Amino acid sequence: MKKSKEKKRVVILGSTGSIGRSALQVLNNFKDRFTVFGLSAHKNYDLMKYQIREFKPEFVVLTREETYKELKKEFSTKRVKIEFGIENIKHMVSLPEVDIVINAIVGSAGLLPSFATLNAGKTLALANKESLVMAGELLSNLAKKKNREILPVDSEHSAIKQCLLAGKKKEVNKLILTASGGPFYLDKKIDFSRITVSQALRHPTWGMGRKITVDSATLINKGLELIEAHWLFEIPSAKIKIMIHPQSVVHSMVEYMDGSIIAQMSKPDMKLPLQYALLYPERVGTDNCFLDLSKVKALTFLKPDFRKFPGLKLCYFALELGGTAPCVLNAANEVAVESFLNKKLSFDKIPLLVRKILSSHKVKQNPDLNDIISVDRWAKDESINLIRRIGR
Ligand SMILES: NC(=O)c1ccc[n+]([C@@H]2O[C@H](COP(=O)([O-])OP(=O)(O)OC[C@H]3O[C@@H](n4cnc5c(N)ncnc54)[C@H](OP(=O)(O)O)[C@@H]3O)[C@@H](O)[C@H]2O)c1
Repeated sequence: MKKSKEKKRVVILGSTGSIGRSALQVLNNFKDRFTVFGLSAHKNYDLMKYQIREFKPEFVVLTREETYKELKKEFSTKRVKIEFGIENIKHMVSLPEVDIVINAIVGSAGLLPSFATLNAGKTLALANKESLVMAGELLSNLAKKKNREILPVDSEHSAIKQCLLAGKKKEVNKLILTASGGPFYLDKKIDFSRITVSQALRHPTWGMGRKITVDSATLINKGLELIEAHWLFEIPSAKIKIMIHPQSVVHSMVEYMDGSIIAQMSKPDMKLPLQYALLYPERVGTDNCFLDLSKVKALTFLKPDFRKFPGLKLCYFALELGGTAPCVLNAANEVAVESFLNKKLSFDKIPLLVRKILSSHKVKQNPDLNDIISVDRWAKDESINLIRRIGR
């Protein structure tokens, strides 16, 4: 008789976010394969309260003190352990009970949890692309040292991982990352200095968190994904092309040396890449993600407009500079996006600010983790000061 497989215990960091919620839905579809061991969130008290009741994790960490105190009070008589702060996230992911960590924290706050996960020798399913942008070389070296693969959750990288199964690495000509283009790509008349927060948050094809939605509108998200792809697949930036594909049906492609292009297509739904990462290398049937090709009227591909979207070019530039440059780009962008969302910076100034901060930075090659942390802090402080000086 076939022995039933032991359930894998999963931690979801950022479980209250868009990816975190999708991840919980996927785990719910595979209750026979996974249990939710731990969750983390920042400030969403109501949703975390619901998730604790619904998914019964053993360990929960909050990174905002007020939310932590309220939840601790609420669950004081219950079995769940509720803790506060980044040190406890690091502790939770390192516990021997944990098999897989899905890092779906947004922004640079995801960096140390990614390191802690790999350091503890756990499988890292990575949505937090900012970790790889900030410290790609360090993280990929650590994964190799620990004999662990970083499993991409980003749909483009999941697509590339699947397309790479069609040939050998030495046969790859280029990776082709597709981008929806966001809400403004096809709009010829739009005045970037007048774009409002609600316009920028109206993504045409994907429903996502606020930061990544703004990053998609500036195309900086695609630039961050370029850096992510470089480190995940060890491919130089010259061999990574970006194509605007407004329908978001082809999630990315690999071109081989004989001219064949292999594409991965599906509905734009993050549950599929999450499932692929969680079950990798297995494919398991589901009923949630089927694409009806007869309803896809056209698939179009356009070259990116670097003049209209200068942030994308900056990402290629930062990757070429190497060392601490991508970390600076990421930090400046994070502050710029936050300021745009808080109506302290206009949309057109996001790439401008990133360029200014990047150009005032003296790049350090081969940084260690402490260098990365201090450069991240420096770039954020500089960005905040610059925004105060220049205003909206
Ligand atoms: N959304 C997508 O479809 C998508 C696709 C590909 C990749 N990604 C990547 O996945 C990551 C998450 O994106 P998202 O769209 O899910 O973001 P989101 O909806 O904004 O969720 C972010 C999560 O991170 C938590 N968080 C916020 N600030 C934190 C901090 N300082 N420390 C610890 N946790 C913090 C939030 O907690 P609270 O809600 O409690 O504040 C929430 O659980 C990003 O790196 C993004 O680029 C997202």
